[in-house]
Amino acid sequence: MRTYLVTGGAGFIGSNYIHYMFDKYDKDIRIINVDALTYAGNPENLKDIEKRDNYAFVKADICDKDAIEKIFKENDIDRVVHFAAESHVDRSIKDPEVFVRTNVLGTAVMLNQAKAAWELPDGSFMKDKKFLHVSTDEVYGSLSEDGGFFYETTPYSPHSPYSASKAGSDMLVKAYMDTYGFPANITNCSNNYGPYQFPEKLIPLMINNALNGKKLPVYGDGKNVRDWLYVADHAKAIDMVQEKGRLFETYNVGGHNEMQNIEIVKIIIETLNEMLPPDDPRKEHINTDLITYVEDRKGHDRRYAIAPDKIKNEIGWEPETSFREGIKLTIRWYFEHKEWMDNVTSGDYLDYYRSMYKE
Ligand code: NAD
Ligand code: DAU
Repeated sequence: MRTYLVTGGAGFIGSNYIHYMFDKYDKDIRIINVDALTYAGNPENLKDIEKRDNYAFVKADICDKDAIEKIFKENDIDRVVHFAAESHVDRSIKDPEVFVRTNVLGTAVMLNQAKAAWELPDGSFMKDKKFLHVSTDEVYGSLSEDGGFFYETTPYSPHSPYSASKAGSDMLVKAYMDTYGFPANITNCSNNYGPYQFPEKLIPLMINNALNGKKLPVYGDGKNVRDWLYVADHAKAIDMVQEKGRLFETYNVGGHNEMQNIEIVKIIIETLNEMLPPDDPRKEHINTDLITYVEDRKGHDRRYAIAPDKIKNEIGWEPETSFREGIKLTIRWYFEHKEWMDNVTSGDYLDYYRSMYKE
């Protein structure tokens, strides 16, 4: 039975990945999830699988070398899938240091401990051990509105403290591959959306605000473009890269789904109105009057767009969920998990929201 060490599995993509993997492999794999449970980590995301015999949770910080070393010493880890990170650009603009600590130092600790566990006396590595570093398209910087795509060969040009710290982590993984022949892959993915996403990010924030009759804060002119991918498609890509990809390679993962932020907000308004029952009183206030243009994000990247040719041609992965379908699945999930949303939007979230949106 193959053993996975997943970092950051209590967050948005990590928890979707763990669900995807148990749905696919059921009892044929074992997963150890190590997560520090920051504001973004939520044990509720894994409630339905927490009692499985082949699942274990370890609360630890990835910067804590001793804690990570202990996990490798006590378990024969076959795969590392490294999600744990500080992930929100706006938070990185206000408080960059924690991003450098977790994203750069934390990745260095993970690499070093995996290397120590897997390296043989002659400097080669045990057979069939693999590390996958989950990264972002933001490391490539910003594209112009009228053309171009991010390829695996596009030079890195990060602009925010978040993307700079992720670029630093990618460079460390590349350095381990080049220097030691460390068995790894990197995936650089576009914007994800779907169940369990924390409502600091565009889509869940807009869904939650609209349902509560709150303003929908659109940064700048609302014409920044992102390439949206349904999270289950990302989970599938990660698994396929680890099992079918060539070691030491980077694969870009994207949705072929470029949209301006303002288009996304309008689709959310339209879809909420379609999906709510005809007599639901919330329908009275869910309309475009809620849209409010607010001060732009500092250094706001204009456009991201992934060219997923390599992952399609080499591995056969393609996004399966259209945006119209994915947004309905996402909204239905938030309808059915009102308590989840109420829990994460109380307490610290209110302070974050007030300081971020001056409300
Ligand atoms: P998230 O913020 O929802 O979750 C991050 C998880 O990491 C949380 O569970 C948190 O508790 C944990 N964590 C944070 N600091 C930690 C530490 N020091 N030690 C241990 N655990 C820690 O993030 P996400 O959106 O799920 O993103 C996951 C990964 O995917 C990140 O590496 C991110 O850069 C990358 N990524 C995200 C997107 C996206 O659209 N969200 C797109 C491409 C790549
Ligand atoms: O591209 C991949 C990246 O996507 C990931 O690496 C990051 O972890 C993830 O957070 C995401 O970054 P973005 O900055 O693109 O996502 P966010 O949801 O924060 O914002 C999406 C766009 O919407 C962006 O142009 C800013 C805008 N926005 C965002 C918020 C929260 C608004 O206009 N209003 C808002 O309130």
